[in-house]
Amino acid sequence: MKKTVNVAIMGIGTVGGGTYEILTKNHDFLLRTQGIDFQVSKVLDKNIDRIRYFGIPENKAAATVDEIAADKSIDIVVETMGGVEPAKTFIEKVLLSGKNVVTANKELISKHWPALEAAAKKGGAGLYFEASCVGGVPIIRALQEGLQANHITSLVGIINGTTNYILTKMTEEGMSYDDALKEAQQLGYAEFNPTSDVEGFDVAYKLSILASLAFHTCVPYQMIHREGITKISKADIKAGLELGYRIKLLAIGKRKGNEIEVRVHPTFVPAAHPLASVGGSFNAVYVNGDYVDDLMFYGRGAGARPTGSAIVSDIVYAAKASGPVYSDFENNGQKADDIVIASDFSSKYYMSISVKDVPGVLAAVTGVFARHSVSIESVSQRSFGSGAAIVFLTHTASESDIMAAVEDIEDLDDTNKVESLIRVLA
Ligand code: HSE
Repeated sequence: MKKTVNVAIMGIGTVGGGTYEILTKNHDFLLRTQGIDFQVSKVLDKNIDRIRYFGIPENKAAATVDEIAADKSIDIVVETMGGVEPAKTFIEKVLLSGKNVVTANKELISKHWPALEAAAKKGGAGLYFEASCVGGVPIIRALQEGLQANHITSLVGIINGTTNYILTKMTEEGMSYDDALKEAQQLGYAEFNPTSDVEGFDVAYKLSILASLAFHTCVPYQMIHREGITKISKADIKAGLELGYRIKLLAIGKRKGNEIEVRVHPTFVPAAHPLASVGGSFNAVYVNGDYVDDLMFYGRGAGARPTGSAIVSDIVYAAKASGPVYSDFENNGQKADDIVIASDFSSKYYMSISVKDVPGVLAAVTGVFARHSVSIESVSQRSFGSGAAIVFLTHTASESDIMAAVEDIEDLDDTNKVESLIRVLA
């Protein structure tokens, strides 16, 4: 029997507009395949021009969030406003009024998931956020409903399209960081203020959500080691290519027993690794589970259509669910007492050091490595004038040993600076 489900959308920008388009253009398809007559009955946006731009009848415009919360005919509310406030206040209001919420807001979920889930429980409503991580790729549903049999041991992803676009342009076309960023801004990938993307905040928000779901425990985003891509130079990209690596901004989550490692940083990925060929604005997540072994999810992580696709999948899910489902762990925003979030980790490293080209400098640097138990895999040197650049690849070493070595290397008489330090995916 046909069931009508009324949907409200708060925030008619790119993604909200894409969601409206899918629900209207694919209305009959969803009716036939899902048995549900989805109706967008209200939209909320302070800018009426945006409502007009997407061809939404103006009589659907709600004046306030309270109007949506009070409307008993609305079943599901989509939040595509972005940012923390007023999105948080609005979502809490509609959850408390008993309506399911579907959101694409990774910053909000990663910062305020416990408060939102508490409001959902109080209102007897569901909170769904497939679209918050990796756009159109159904990674959250895969973790929650496809991989329950497994202890997830690792999750390694390229989960920001803007930075992947910039790094791909630098790698494939030899562009500088500034030029690649400018192009990404012109194409609408990067925002006017690109900080959240290029400094790795966006990735850290998504990793905190994905790692919490994968490892069944709260992984606060503040505990994630985070570095962005702003210091990556053309020289780093070139050196990586010569050594057989592609540089990617990776989100890395690992669990071993009760120890969790979570980090976001530029990484040299071996050219043969499946993640190395994920180019442009595409995203991918490489997951390992103890029974399923390796899996890779690939697709578009942003944009109106892919993100709208994820939102509509949550809308359908919420409409068909027998009741709300909440986190399967204590979702209080704190690290659980029995979990250790590793403050140190191990990796292989690429290190480029500018030095004076004088006798003994190489021996002095390798002496520092030896003192800090860092074993060298390869070394090469290029001279220019009175100076030289020495490039090392290390075997697996601990981050703390490497950092101590960097400090001592920079203190040597004949070294200038550690110009680059890039972790290498083993
Ligand atoms: N700005 C993000 C990206 C999309 O470039 O992937 C939304 O998280």
